Amino acid sequence: MTIPASHIKKRREAMGLTVTDLAGKLGVDKSFISRVEAGERSLSDAQSQALAAVLNVPADLLLLESGKLPADVQGAIDADTAAAVAAVRARAEQMAITHPKAPKRAFTPHATPISLAPDIEGRIPARIEVSKASTTYRAHSYHTKVPPSAIKPFIEVFTEPGDLISDPFCGSGMTGVAALDSGRNAILSDLSPAAVHIARNYTAPCDPKAFRAAFERLRDAVEPTMSWLYTPVGAKRPIEYTVWSDVFRCEACEKPVRDMYTDRNRIALGRLWRGVLAEPDDRLRRALAFAFTNTAWHGTRMRRFNARGGHRPLTGTLYVPQLSAEANVLEVMRKKIGQLQAYYQALGAPTETPHVLMGSATQLTGVADASVDYVFTDPPFGSNIFYADCNLIWESWLGRITDPTREAVVNRSLSVASGGKSLKDYAGLMTASMKEIARVLKPGGWATVVFHNTDGDVWAALSAAAREAGFEFHEAASLDRKQQSHKGYKGREGGVRCAN
Ligand SMILES: C[S@@+](CC[C@H](N)C(=O)[O-])C[C@H]1O[C@@H](n2cnc3c(N)ncnc32)[C@H](O)[C@@H]1O
Repeated sequence: MTIPASHIKKRREAMGLTVTDLAGKLGVDKSFISRVEAGERSLSDAQSQALAAVLNVPADLLLLESGKLPADVQGAIDADTAAAVAAVRARAEQMAITHPKAPKRAFTPHATPISLAPDIEGRIPARIEVSKASTTYRAHSYHTKVPPSAIKPFIEVFTEPGDLISDPFCGSGMTGVAALDSGRNAILSDLSPAAVHIARNYTAPCDPKAFRAAFERLRDAVEPTMSWLYTPVGAKRPIEYTVWSDVFRCEACEKPVRDMYTDRNRIALGRLWRGVLAEPDDRLRRALAFAFTNTAWHGTRMRRFNARGGHRPLTGTLYVPQLSAEANVLEVMRKKIGQLQAYYQALGAPTETPHVLMGSATQLTGVADASVDYVFTDPPFGSNIFYADCNLIWESWLGRITDPTREAVVNRSLSVASGGKSLKDYAGLMTASMKEIARVLKPGGWATVVFHNTDGDVWAALSAAAREAGFEFHEAASLDRKQQSHKGYKGREGGVRCAN
């Protein structure tokens, strides 16, 4: 075997060994070492093991540098090449998009406490107009998104520029977007890897031109596969979408429930995803993955056909319609890249950007006591939406799924081991979360909690959780008919740490 001469020689010299020393240790003559170092002789496996031991480098490294694979790896490939390749790819994909669990820097308590009686009376508009049509809102879908324009008025009333805002149920990160837009910073977290992926990409700048160029490289790489999949034989142009009418049969008829993707879209998305992961620049890879996850959602059978155009899946559910519009996923991604390019252009390059962490609101790891000026959050409400289930569409690509046992929902259809929870369990999780919110808030700090559920028991559980954590209710403001109200709490006087 021939090992790159420069490596052996460099290492030997760095260790202060002469050729004679090394030859002596290996029990070979000097000229043999000189010829190995000159790349004229190769080593047997046993000699390379001995050399690795003397030079104190991993034997695998010497083998790899000489173009050979370690015996166990070679054995795995010989035994089942397809499985070995699949395992390597699966691992690479899992490691491609990772999320931090603690902030890069520690947040320490501020010297200035919150004003004991901020002048908020009459400052929160009774009705807040929200727009769901903005470039920002539409950049990536998520269930029950609160538009940043609805969050900004609260931020402006409860904080000053430069303050730190927390949202421990951040979902798509709209609180962070609103904070950035108001000159504040934010620390966001969510249990779901998909939510963290979306929130991070929403709040981290990305060079729009480099992003476009990265997509163009990706498009060129996948073009042959896409053309094969979406251009009918004899046609000159690819199809944009295909309408499928499905007839579903129950299991009694021994027909399995269909996959979420047509075969064609599964292959196309797989090829696109591989191309995304091949992007070497970390920020661009994440941004392409951001465009991809929204595309993958549109690539499912959940995309409802709409005769007036604008085919899309329903959010907050895994509903598969009878009439679905199978998208040309490259075309969907191309349009999404255009929207995101405009979004990143508008976002610019803020000096400080939100920290987005993955973790449960019941344990805000890395967020110091009394370090946050204000909390704006929108937790799950009872059994309105099962985020862990809905986010599977994105998380199956990202390689990591939400831990359903920690999800703050009421779910009576699952076993406890699989994440099933009663109203009491939900109340327990909300109490623990409220206590964490109280812990990280500065003394006397305020929290605004979005509430969108008509179930009185769920409201009672949430109010009890807030009271138990030491908050007192202050006032409610109506948001709009779909996102009905906001409830404000103020740290209760004489109560736990968050109190004045
Ligand atoms: C109503 S959504 C938030 C949506 C968000 N306001 C937005 O604009 O996108 C609630 C979020 O809570 C998350 N969640 C559920 N249980 C959690 C827990 N124990 N800790 C942290 N996040 C949790 C879900 O993953 C979901 O993203």
